[in-house]
Amino acid sequence: MTGLTDGIEVLYSREQIAARVAEMGAEIGRDLKGEKLVMVGVLKGAALFLSDLARSLDLDATFDFVAVSSYGQGQRSSGAVKMIKDLDQSIEGKNVLVVEDILDTGLTLSYLRKLFLQQKPKSLRIAALLDKPSRRIEKIEADYVGFSIPNLFVIGYGMDYAERYRNLADICILSPEHPE
Ligand code: IMP
Ligand code: MG
Repeated sequence: MTGLTDGIEVLYSREQIAARVAEMGAEIGRDLKGEKLVMVGVLKGAALFLSDLARSLDLDATFDFVAVSSYGQGQRSSGAVKMIKDLDQSIEGKNVLVVEDILDTGLTLSYLRKLFLQQKPKSLRIAALLDKPSRRIEKIEADYVGFSIPNLFVIGYGMDYAERYRNLADICILSPEHPE
C-alpha cells in the first residue's frame, strides 16, 4: 500500500516552519506595535500559513480572504489574473497584511497590490512564506519572507499539486520516484 508521503522529500520540517513563522510573527508584531491589522489570505495555499502566523502575532487582527485564478500557467503573455472571491470588507484606512504561500512570478501579488492600493489602505505589507526570486516576471518583493528557495516545485503546508498534498505538515518536494 502506498502512503501519502511515499516518494516525497521534506524540504522544511514542521519544526523549522513553526520556528520561522514565529520569528515572522514577532517581526510583524514589532513593526505594527499598537496598530490594528487586517490579514488578507490568498486562498487556498496560504490558509495554513495564515492560521499559524495569526497565532504568533500579538496584535488586534482580523481576517479576510481573496481567491484568484491565473490564466495560462507558463503561457506568459498577458499574465492575466482574475479575482474569484473579493474582500468581504473595505480596507480603506486599514493596515493590511497580504498573506501568500509563494511569491513566484509575482503576477498574483502585483495584481492584488495594485487592486488593494486603489482602496487607499493606511499601509499595505506582504508576507510570503516562500520566495522564488529566480522565477520573477513582475518587479515585486515581499516585506516578510519565510524561506527563499531555488526553482523547485513544492507541496505541503497548504501548497498543492493538482489540489493534493495541502495537508502535509512539512514543506516537501516530489521526488522522481514518486508513484503518482
Ligand atoms: P505567481 O503569480 O507566479 O507569483 O504565483 C504564485 C502562486 O502560484 C502561488 O500562490 C501558488 O499558488 C502557485 N505556486 C507557485 N509555485 C508553486 C509551487 O512550487 N508549488 C505549489 N504552488 C505554487
Ligand atoms: Mg496561491
